[in-house]
Amino acid sequence: MDKKIKTVVSGITPSGRSFHIGNYFGAVKPNIELQNQIENAYFFIADLHALSTIQDQKILEDNIYNVVLDYLALGLDPEKAVFFKQSDVHEHSELAIILGNYVSYGHLKRMHAFKDKLQKGFKIDNINMGLFNYPILMAADILLYKPDAVPVGEDQRQHVEITRDIAESFNKTYKKPVFSLPEPYISKVTGKIVGTDGQRKMSKSLGNTIDIFEPEEVIRKQIMGAYTDPARKRADDHGHLEGNTVFMYHDLINDNLEEVADLKQRYIEGKVGDIEVKEKLIVAHKRLFEPARQKRQQLMQDTNYIKNILNQGAQKATKLANQTLAEVKETIGLKK
Ligand code: ADP
Ligand code: TRP
Repeated sequence: MDKKIKTVVSGITPSGRSFHIGNYFGAVKPNIELQNQIENAYFFIADLHALSTIQDQKILEDNIYNVVLDYLALGLDPEKAVFFKQSDVHEHSELAIILGNYVSYGHLKRMHAFKDKLQKGFKIDNINMGLFNYPILMAADILLYKPDAVPVGEDQRQHVEITRDIAESFNKTYKKPVFSLPEPYISKVTGKIVGTDGQRKMSKSLGNTIDIFEPEEVIRKQIMGAYTDPARKRADDHGHLEGNTVFMYHDLINDNLEEVADLKQRYIEGKVGDIEVKEKLIVAHKRLFEPARQKRQQLMQDTNYIKNILNQGAQKATKLANQTLAEVKETIGLKK
């Protein structure tokens, strides 16, 4: 860990029901490791961001609750990290309105999330402004806390880059270093976990995930359906490990290194079937996530505890967010 990093900020959008292993290894686990290593870690649920896709009260409420539970169950420690909901700290929205003036339409048009939507066939006139403005709100989320680094998966690199551009443009306009210029903090190994289709990034919307807290039958089905070596028709054919998702997942999940080495060796030699390799992955998944599953069950019994954590987190976050916003307002000529 780079010694210079003192403050990090990272958000997770509650756009789905529950975490998958891409979220875990790409974002959640690195964040949980960071909370033990640095002074100021701000982790939040980006509930306002979710509105660009989720416009159903019940679904949004459930998603938020599930992400909070997942995060805490997987080891987020509210004593070490400030953990809160974006919408509870209104400075995020207010700064976003201000920052929109320091970035151009042309720049926002080049953002992946927007371009992907167009590519998927959405008509430009029907894309909501929440999605188009998404990077501005994200820049506000980040810049309020003056972080050195933003831990995210590879898919979010562009958003951190535009955040730096907005910060730079603002600082230059007023000739004052109000904002820090944070770096994306992305793991080379786990920044982009491939999905069970063996092709694309693991993602809720692509249906190629291995989930963490879904019922065991669901996880079994997801693992059994994962892409292996298409050239291998029978268990005694020699297999290939490159591009073989099941072995990639073994490397991530399975702490029994001897077993993994043995499976790889036998796979190459054509001495083990896909089923056995996948069965062992199911067992390893269970071993790794069972404690978190149990913790999640316990947390579900105590809704007050969760409410308290989020309230306290919002209070702590507000302190710094409010200070930064006041500095911004003064800088631009909106002093009280
Ligand atoms: P999804 O693509 O499934 O909707 P999100 O966009 O909600 O996932 O991502 C939440 C966090 O997890 C982000 O920081 C994102 O970069 C990270 N992440 C998502 N998918 C992956 C993946 N396949 N590999 C690594 N990190 C990922
Ligand atoms: N856009 C991020 C995602 O989809 C979530 C997010 C919102 C975020 N605000 C952030 C991540 C600020 C890091 C910092 O995953």
